[in-house]
Amino acid sequence: MCGIVGYVGKQKAAAIILEGLKRLEYRGYDSAGVCVLQAGKLDVAKKAGRVEVLVKEAARHKFTGTSGIGHTRWATHGGVTDANAHPHVSSDGKLALIHNGVIENYAGMKKFLAGKGYTFKSETDTEALCNLIAYHYAKEPAPKNGGSRFLESVRKALRHVEGTYGIAVLCADCPDEIVAARKASPLVLGVGDQEYILASDAAAIVSRTQNVVYLKDGELVHITPRAFAISTLDQADVSPVVDTITWKVGDADLNGYAHFMEKEIFEQPQALENTMRGRFAEDGSTAQFGGLNLSAAEFRQIDRLLFCACGSAWHACLVAEHLVESFARVPVEVDYASEFRYRNVPLDRNTLCWVISQSGETIDTLAALREAKRKGHRVLAINNVVGSTIAREADGGVYQHVGPEIGVASTKAFTSQLLLGAMIALYIARMRDMSFSDGVQYVQSLKGAPDLVRTVLKQAPKIRKIAKKYAKHADFLFLGRLSLFPVALEGALKLKEISYIHAEGYPTAEMKHGPIALVSEQCPSVFLVPKGDVFNKIVSSMQEIKARKGPIIAVVTAGSEIPPGVADEVIPIPDCHPAVLPIVATIPVQLLSYYIALERGCDVDKPRNLAKSVTVE
Ligand code: F6R
Repeated sequence: MCGIVGYVGKQKAAAIILEGLKRLEYRGYDSAGVCVLQAGKLDVAKKAGRVEVLVKEAARHKFTGTSGIGHTRWATHGGVTDANAHPHVSSDGKLALIHNGVIENYAGMKKFLAGKGYTFKSETDTEALCNLIAYHYAKEPAPKNGGSRFLESVRKALRHVEGTYGIAVLCADCPDEIVAARKASPLVLGVGDQEYILASDAAAIVSRTQNVVYLKDGELVHITPRAFAISTLDQADVSPVVDTITWKVGDADLNGYAHFMEKEIFEQPQALENTMRGRFAEDGSTAQFGGLNLSAAEFRQIDRLLFCACGSAWHACLVAEHLVESFARVPVEVDYASEFRYRNVPLDRNTLCWVISQSGETIDTLAALREAKRKGHRVLAINNVVGSTIAREADGGVYQHVGPEIGVASTKAFTSQLLLGAMIALYIARMRDMSFSDGVQYVQSLKGAPDLVRTVLKQAPKIRKIAKKYAKHADFLFLGRLSLFPVALEGALKLKEISYIHAEGYPTAEMKHGPIALVSEQCPSVFLVPKGDVFNKIVSSMQEIKARKGPIIAVVTAGSEIPPGVADEVIPIPDCHPAVLPIVATIPVQLLSYYIALERGCDVDKPRNLAKSVTVE
């Protein structure tokens, strides 16, 4: 939610900041702004609308300064207006601030500051913090021992903040300096050649440097033209750890695709290969993970797993539940992270908690992790973004290694999470009752998943035709059983998110208990139909829909025959191992949603009201 960028160096800051904002636009895209410090003045351009609107506005300012900050907004406090866009400038004109997060006690701050003569132009919480820093700056005594009055005033103001923030601040009196800080909102500092670039995400940095420092909660960084220094709210110095980003700038480009979502759907075979690489034991019968920080003996003690996540990642947890229970015979509970954090769940000593989060920054998932840790539980994480807050706070975990996921609707990160869930099931199963030969077969099946996904992707033109036919319908049902029930939920979520069509995911047999009331010629049902025990039952459910004139799109495993006249459209998928089936069955529902959204003229990568990384409650 909201992307922030800051630059100090020898180049003109505005162009670099605007480029960074384009790369962070997936974090929020209702308004954007930039502030450059030039000739001792804070010059601000900001506009409601996308970054491209800001680019035009910025051109009129002819910015030349070499330090600045910029922001792309996902509104929390105050509507989408030019005035509410960031940066905000303090009413004395001394300070400019960009912010990602929520200042919960802003109302009290505003009241206090209004009493001191500060004025406000926006409805945002951010402007209150900006003026509070200005208030402390005005009061701050001349620095002793070479200290910085600018830095100390930010530190003092932040001590009064309740809430979350990633901020960057410019001061009119301090050319080529930025003070930035974070608490529960991500902030990464790129350390370049005679320049520093600060951002919510490495995507905005990687074109200038691959050397980065991930700031931790409660840390501030003071950037000057020659150096940067990190310290805490309590004024303790922190030695920086410089990491190297492993991906390159091209990874976050469209590379000829029309949308990031399309690119990311078609990247899935490679993404799955990257997720698996080096993660099978030498004997080829089980999985291995480097970063769990839990010995095999400790794993054997575990008699229950808890998975927590939000959105698509929560669907991945449901699939993991199915596979772990089926193959490893260990009971699993799945909770929405947003519920878990407030539910006071009783957990026993031998419960191992997992959180799943592509971004590693989702605030509810982070809070669930912290709550489980507070209760003394070990928490492992599955994350894609290296160095993210959840990755750093978890006791151990597994990275997805699928590269940056830019499309707001999760695709390649989701199937990679399904794969890791399947690998965790295998890992635990092989410690318990799964035989060597079943393990070998399981591993071989997982290794074959990328090719099966390639086969399904070849059906894109056919799925596009189906999408064209059904794109005008206002309601959809997605129905699946067992491990494909979460895939039905995921299909419905994808369609809702990017095409704004009302869609519901249900366990197939549950359809009779209510949702069948929706069925008519106007409400297509997407059935996920695997071979096996429940095949005939699913066909009966399809008959029930057909009897009520509901159109049926069936995703069917090869070798299964749907009786003639039951399904209107059939999308075949390869028959495969149960651990791979949810991955393979996901591809058609992703493509269907993507092509339906295209038919409806929707902005696929930036759906209305959404942002990629939900760092507010
Ligand atoms: C759906 C989607 C969201 C995310 C959810 C969790 O397409 O992208 O539902 O899955 O916001 O995000 P992460 O995985 O970053 O915690």
